[in-house]
Amino acid sequence: GDVAVLVPAAGAGVRLGPGGPKALRRIGGEPLLVHAVRRIAAAGPVHTVVVAAPPGDAEAVRELLAPIAELTVVTGGATRQESVAAALAAVPPGPEIVLVHDAARALTPTTLFESVAEAVRGGEDAVIPVLPVVDTVKEVTAAGVVLGTVDRSALRAVQTPQGFRRSVLAAAHAAAADPLTDDAGLVEKLGVPVSCVPGSEYAMKITRPFDLALAEHLLSAVPLAGHH
Ligand code: C5P
Repeated sequence: GDVAVLVPAAGAGVRLGPGGPKALRRIGGEPLLVHAVRRIAAAGPVHTVVVAAPPGDAEAVRELLAPIAELTVVTGGATRQESVAAALAAVPPGPEIVLVHDAARALTPTTLFESVAEAVRGGEDAVIPVLPVVDTVKEVTAAGVVLGTVDRSALRAVQTPQGFRRSVLAAAHAAAADPLTDDAGLVEKLGVPVSCVPGSEYAMKITRPFDLALAEHLLSAVPLAGHH
């Protein structure tokens, strides 16, 4: 394989309510991070996996994941961007394609890792999986008064894995000023074009209690949900 996958998993997961770091929350009796890494490891072109663990949890995460895949665990940072930068610094020489994937998208199908990597291999510098936005979207004031309606047809919801030529991702993180919520955003700031491939509903981000319940149902209905 010519691909390294970085997994930022150091977030606190406060939006899920009490219960510890989000990546270590369980569905089907196993932590989200285990589900995510199992799918990554099953993807064809993957050479290296680096996980950024919550501070203090690196050793536990190493033990948790050792049976699933050969991988490196680093300690994450205070922001997602710092966690990704720490993981990127641990990638050995070799892989020229780097994917960044949130542990919270635990049911992401292996085929999505492959299609994103393939687009980078085909010459793109930066590739993101996207879905159309189904809801009407409005801009509102802090007080909840509508300012206007956004043209939905031009909007896309962005998922991970996001794929990059390694040198482009390294340059984007070296230049990172304020922490953004995704890596493609850092690449955009360099003026490098970012292109889209079709995302997957299984790559949903497990963020709120409802998402955790939904993921649990998906997994019990189809034990390898998204594992195609
Ligand atoms: O908080 P959010 O849902 O945007 O986090 C997205 C991903 O980034 C999660 O997988 C989370 O564990 C990770 N993260 C991290 N280090 C942080 C904050 C978030 O690795 N300091």
